[in-house]
Amino acid sequence: MCGIVGYIGTDLAFPFVLKGLKRLEYRGYDSSGMAFLNKNQIDITKSVGKISQLEDLMLSKTHTSKIGIGHTRWATHGEPSDRNAHPFYSNSKKLAIIHNGIIENYAIIKKELQNKGFQFESDTDTEVLINFIENIQQENQVSLEKSLRIALQKIRGAYCILIISVDHPDTIFAARKGSPLVIGIGNNTHYIASDASPIVEFTKEVIYVNDYQIAIIKSDELILKNLGNETITPQITKLDLEITSIDKGIYDDFMLKEIEEQPFTVFDCLRGRLDFKNCNIKLSGVEEFEQQFKQTQKITIIACGTSWHAGIYGKYIIETFCRIPVEVDYASEYRYRNPIIKKGDILIPISQSGETADTLTAIEAAKKDGALIFGIINVAGSSIARICHAGIYTHSGVEIGVASTKAYTGQLTALVLFTLKLALIKESISKQQILEVIDHLQILPTQIQKIIDQKDQLKSMAEKIYAAPNMLYLGRGFNFPTALEGALKMKEVTYIHAEGYPAAEMKHGPIALVNENLPVVFIAPKDNYLEKLYSNIQEINARKGKIIIIANEQDTNALQYTNEVFYIPNSHEILNPILSIIPLQLLSYFVGKLKHLDVDKPRNLAKSVTVE
Ligand code: AGP
Ligand code: GLU
Repeated sequence: MCGIVGYIGTDLAFPFVLKGLKRLEYRGYDSSGMAFLNKNQIDITKSVGKISQLEDLMLSKTHTSKIGIGHTRWATHGEPSDRNAHPFYSNSKKLAIIHNGIIENYAIIKKELQNKGFQFESDTDTEVLINFIENIQQENQVSLEKSLRIALQKIRGAYCILIISVDHPDTIFAARKGSPLVIGIGNNTHYIASDASPIVEFTKEVIYVNDYQIAIIKSDELILKNLGNETITPQITKLDLEITSIDKGIYDDFMLKEIEEQPFTVFDCLRGRLDFKNCNIKLSGVEEFEQQFKQTQKITIIACGTSWHAGIYGKYIIETFCRIPVEVDYASEYRYRNPIIKKGDILIPISQSGETADTLTAIEAAKKDGALIFGIINVAGSSIARICHAGIYTHSGVEIGVASTKAYTGQLTALVLFTLKLALIKESISKQQILEVIDHLQILPTQIQKIIDQKDQLKSMAEKIYAAPNMLYLGRGFNFPTALEGALKMKEVTYIHAEGYPAAEMKHGPIALVNENLPVVFIAPKDNYLEKLYSNIQEINARKGKIIIIANEQDTNALQYTNEVFYIPNSHEILNPILSIIPLQLLSYFVGKLKHLDVDKPRNLAKSVTVE
């Protein structure tokens, strides 16, 4: 979902701005641009399309500036085009702006500015904002900083903005509300970006700018203020990110790299949290609020997309092991359906990026009603992580591929740990049952590796189905969310219309789709749903569906219905979904490659959806 970079320091700005935009490509965009402060003028270059097109335009220019800003746009107001790409000049051409987010009341402001004679070259809300700031400065004869503060108090919406000015040749002005902004601290240099990936190779010392804060950034000085003009002491954080985690290394695609990292990322999620000897699960976030967890009568999980599928899985295992009701809501629905939540209830937002606007706004609503917010998040220091009372980091590392893979298995693993911890607190299951799960958890990384080692089987399966226009994914119980997630992976990476359903539900309508051209994937590991699931397999088989089965080893039944069987290692029934999603991730990857699609950056998608 769009991206921002900025550089002010002792070297040329262009190399960092260009490389930074490339580092942010994974977030999804439709156009890009950059602006540099050169003596008493600002030079802007921008283009619709890929960053490589912008790079071509920059080749013919000489680069002397040490102050620059860059932007990747994901259009909200105005179609993707050269003229709607950022940066934008103010009418005087003395200011330039880049912006992530949405200015909700831009239309009325634009009308007022037009009545005062302002001209607009684009359809965007962003160009309105920079001229709104300039108009306040001119009419009130105040500083740029003050006019920025006044403007930000009058607009509604979400923003992360960078502004440069010919009257401030040594400064970049930044501000944020609801869209992330990180500032890296170098040697007489500041590196600015929407996330840490463009910054980490230059410095690990960063400052996360918070909502309603303005940053006045010089090469050797950084001042943070709130909108009330009070200075705030910046909190310096050390990144725990490695540059290797944002490089493809030996892989052609981030998606395959991140699928194959899962033995390590699941291990990292478990690391230090399994205490087999004392039959305990170490989760300080839960221990800090043990009483609330012990007393709570309801848990609500909110999330979007893949994370919502993890939420469904969480519902099944928490209700099975802890016997308390769990509601799962799309964050975007929860926010506006006037939910019933009261003090003492627990809200669990699940988010890989920690920046999803739908989830963020839902949390803010629940927090006002007194709920305990317990996040399951991947990106440390993210906006959602910072507004939760406590939580669990999944430790999945930076996920660059837009289609979530390792973050999903990290979320499932974190939910298992949370469920076991809650069951211990509520004494809802026996210690023997808990030890049995811990026992299986410990070998999970090795079992995931075993699946990855057999990935060629999925490559040959992909060759048989990649031309299909539609697919069905069917699972039951703990693997119903696996069916949903497997279908989403296929949808977003290959553009095949794939639907996930509870297997028994298919009789109530979707079975009408079944014919000899329809691939139907059954997730059928050994659990107490398996016998019923085979009845569903028979129903599809009777209608000549092209059946693919994900089964546990030694399940010889599967071969009665199809030769397309992928075997996963035997595990505890609640852990099967962590294993069964791996072949489905690989299947969608190989189909996407066979269709020569960009599996890392699928069309229309963004890695982090920071607009509602
Ligand atoms: C996952 O493959 C998708 N790219 C998308 O559905 C994603 O899961 C969703 O946007 C939620 O993102 P989050 O986990 O960062 O909040
Ligand atoms: N709302 C702005 C526009 O449509 C910014 C979109 C973005 O976040 O990239 O240009």
